[in-house]
Amino acid sequence: MWKGRFSEDTAEVVLRFTQSLDMDWQLAEADIRGSKAHVRTLASAGLISAEEEAALIRGLDQVLEEVKSGKLKPQIELEDVHMNVEARLTELLGDVGKKLHTGRSRNDQIATTLRLFLRDQLIQIGSKLKAFLEALLDRAESHIDFVVPGYTHLRRAQPISMGHYWMSHFWAFNRDFLRLKAAFEALSECPLGSAALAGSTLPLDRKLSAKLLRFCKPTENSIDSVASRDYLADFHHFASLFAVHCSRLAEDLIIYNSDEFGILDLPDAFCTGSSIMPQKKNPDVLELVRGKTGQILAGYVDLAVTLKGIPLAYDRDLQEDKRGLMRTLQTLHGMLDVLTPLILRVEVNAKGASKAFDDGFIFATDVAEYLVLKGIPFRMAHELVGKAVKWCLSKNKGFSDLSLAEWRNLIPQIDEEMIANLNPRSSVERRNTYGGTSFAEVRRQIKEGKKLVEDA
Ligand code: ARG
Repeated sequence: MWKGRFSEDTAEVVLRFTQSLDMDWQLAEADIRGSKAHVRTLASAGLISAEEEAALIRGLDQVLEEVKSGKLKPQIELEDVHMNVEARLTELLGDVGKKLHTGRSRNDQIATTLRLFLRDQLIQIGSKLKAFLEALLDRAESHIDFVVPGYTHLRRAQPISMGHYWMSHFWAFNRDFLRLKAAFEALSECPLGSAALAGSTLPLDRKLSAKLLRFCKPTENSIDSVASRDYLADFHHFASLFAVHCSRLAEDLIIYNSDEFGILDLPDAFCTGSSIMPQKKNPDVLELVRGKTGQILAGYVDLAVTLKGIPLAYDRDLQEDKRGLMRTLQTLHGMLDVLTPLILRVEVNAKGASKAFDDGFIFATDVAEYLVLKGIPFRMAHELVGKAVKWCLSKNKGFSDLSLAEWRNLIPQIDEEMIANLNPRSSVERRNTYGGTSFAEVRRQIKEGKKLVEDA
């Protein structure tokens, strides 16, 4: 394409090193969409005739057909998707094809193509994320009445409704949904018509291009248009936090499903076995969710490091933005596709969960707060209950083994009513502060969550 300036052919190793077809051939549809809008803009500027416009549009449609059917094979001598499409178009149309790139550079072209492509991807990911949020709501609703141990420092802390647990993840993922929307909004301006970096001497109506491609408006500055990739960074930011949240969820499910905890059951269809140990049922899917999160974080760092050192406007470094993008997209789709149906089939192991309540120590805060209601300052109550725990441990007993007389011996203010309340259900029921684990509060959260997802 640039042979006029050169007196020898590009070296074979350079062709292989500089090509981007392994990353951008999948952008062909978006690229051709952008080209068709450019053709319309050229026609409206009187730079091509109506017949040429029609021929170019028909030609581009045909090239797209050939890409889709696999008939058109990209050639590395033509470097990237843009030049492969243009070369094939010229093959089909002759000299008319040579008018396509009028007033355009691959710099504004790729910036436009990437935005179009990512916009479609974000719509798909958004609907998958919505289904994922619905799966969490479904579990929260089904498991609201199961009381399980809640943990801090991975030590039994206080009883919670399993519905509350699922909702805790729901809210984090709902914020990810908002981040996804923000990343989508970052794609609302159209760079087409910025050309190489400075705009064009040709009378291109950038507002028309923007409108044809369903952007809100053209970008404000032609240098920024071709140099910036922060809209990709916004996407990576969403993807990274989403993956981190998936990884934490996966880690919890692995632990809660372990032989030692035994609180949750995972569906057989989403677990794998061992090639040697016949008894094993392993949570490999969840481990891979945790494992693949690293790749997604790496994609974010990769892009940020690329951007930090390059001078404005366009530099070829930017071509590499697609490698991390494609990998992150693939990993994200994979995670969402497998996690939603898995979550929908997670069940509570009520027997396993109840073991955590056997010794009754998980109600220690309940006792201390009960004493506060009897007028004892919290710090004193804390110490009294702590001493009671210590005494029990030394006698090899749990709170649940203590008679009223033994309790009173340790803490005289304790009465029958309080002892009757030391059970998982009333412990949960009584934690009824806004956003707390009480059944009523969890029901309120689910209602709120459902409304948000429906309106999303
Ligand atoms: N393949 C290139 C990319 O993905 C297109 C832009 C090339 N521009 C250039 N001036 N070499 O970034």
